[in-house]
Amino acid sequence: MSGLLAGKRLLVTGVITDASIAFSVAKLAQENGAQVVLTGYGRLSLVERIAKRLPEPAPVIEVDVTNTEHLAGLADRVREHVDGLDGVVHSIGFAPQSCLGGGFLDAPWEDVATALHVSTFSYKSLAMAALPLMSPGGAVVGLTFDATKAWPVYDWMGVAKAGLESASRYLALHLGKQGIRSNLVAAGPLRTIAAKSIPGFDQFEDAWAERAPLGWSLTDQEPAARACLALLSDWFPATTGEIVHVDGGYHAIGS
Ligand SMILES: NC(=O)c1ccc[n+]([C@@H]2O[C@H](COP(=O)([O-])OP(=O)(O)OC[C@H]3O[C@@H](n4cnc5c(N)ncnc54)[C@H](O)[C@@H]3O)[C@@H](O)[C@H]2O)c1
Repeated sequence: MSGLLAGKRLLVTGVITDASIAFSVAKLAQENGAQVVLTGYGRLSLVERIAKRLPEPAPVIEVDVTNTEHLAGLADRVREHVDGLDGVVHSIGFAPQSCLGGGFLDAPWEDVATALHVSTFSYKSLAMAALPLMSPGGAVVGLTFDATKAWPVYDWMGVAKAGLESASRYLALHLGKQGIRSNLVAAGPLRTIAAKSIPGFDQFEDAWAERAPLGWSLTDQEPAARACLALLSDWFPATTGEIVHVDGGYHAIGS
């Protein structure tokens, strides 16, 4: 087997359509020698259908990251397909509508709590659920949207992402002794189901089109996926708690 991830065994969460960032990660990972197990949430039959479009059909395990039973059973379910894990990809985000599109001042705690549970706390929960299968050299990689700024319509999802960025640093701190890395990719806007659920998402699209120094495609998930692969690979052995921007350079430019 050859390729950047030759022989690696990966757990990839977050596939719901073939536009999902996770789908591109799974596809590229297989093309680069990895064995992939997917997790699916909610519409399992849909995820299973999408999984068949990968170069190698991948098994799908049901995981709702807010379900403690799913998390407790995860390692055993994964062991039915692979004997260990070299990498885990967290590509999960959700916030109720009240939390997005300008609703920052009015969103109730219950909705904010859901956003934080699914989008922030789950990064730690998923990593811990997979930990029994991991060994030194392993990597956890997640997806963020630059949370150093307040964006017009991102609201509580932005707060959730700020928490995710911090959680990744704490995971790096706590799992470092076991030789496990935690890093995030800060992607620019991409037209996925999660993105379409944000009212006013087109504002990001226009801003990126105007300002990203390298230009930016809203429909090309591959640059973000490539960065995930790099961070999962052996080519970042001493990098953890890091955030790699894959946004056409947008974050580096003042307005
Ligand atoms: N699309 C963008 O513009 C963009 C930019 C930067 C970062 N991201 C991040 O990338 C990640 C992937 O999102 P995407 O854009 O590919 O969208 P997507 O809609 O394809 O993926 C989101 C996934 O989250 C899963 N999910 C939601 N609730 C869950 C739960 N309780 N348990 C398990 N899974 C659950 C959904 O099933 C879905 O597969 C998210 O963290 C998102 O915030 C997206």
